[in-house]
Amino acid sequence: MPTMTLPEGAPATLGDAFAHIGKVTAPSVLDMKVMVLTEAAAMALYYKTAELTDDPRVKDLLQKNGREEMLHAQRAMLAIKTVSGEDFHAPLPEDNPYLAGGAFPLGEMTKAGLEKLAQGEFGGEKLYEIWADNTPNPEAARLFRLNGGEERDHGNRLLEAAGLLGA
Ligand SMILES: [Fe+2]
Ligand SMILES: [Fe+2]
Repeated sequence: MPTMTLPEGAPATLGDAFAHIGKVTAPSVLDMKVMVLTEAAAMALYYKTAELTDDPRVKDLLQKNGREEMLHAQRAMLAIKTVSGEDFHAPLPEDNPYLAGGAFPLGEMTKAGLEKLAQGEFGGEKLYEIWADNTPNPEAARLFRLNGGEERDHGNRLLEAAGLLGA
C-alpha cells in the first residue's frame, strides 16, 4: 500500500487527476499538489511504456522523458514551497496514491500511439505556460516555464521515437 494519502479535495484517480489539471488555468496549492503526484506517477508510466519495445533507442528516449517527469514533480514541489512554505514531497512510485493500482503504459507502442503521446506533451507545454502566466510568484512561474520547455523536448523525443518505430 502507498505510504502517502491523497491530499484532501484531490481527484480520486490518476485519470481524473490528469483531466483536472488539464483544465486549470490559475493553479491553487492543491492543484500544484495534484501536479506533483501526476508528474511523479508519469515517470513510472513512461517506464512501463518503454517495456513495450525491444528497440534500445526507443526505450532510452521514453525512459529519458520518464526521469524528467520526476524532475518536474520536484519543481512543482519547490513551487509549492515558494508560494505557501509548505513541504509536499514528490513520492516514489510505490508511495504514490495515484499508483495504488499499479503503473500502466501511456499508450500503444505504434507510430500513431507515440505521435498521439507527443501531442499530449505539447499540450503539457502549453498548460505550464498558462500556469506560469497566471502565477504571481515569479520563482514559481519560472519553475513552471522550465517544466513547460522540457515537455516540448518530451514531445520531440516521442516524435523521434515514432520515426524509429516507423523505419
Ligand atoms: Fe512533466
Ligand atoms: Fe512530459
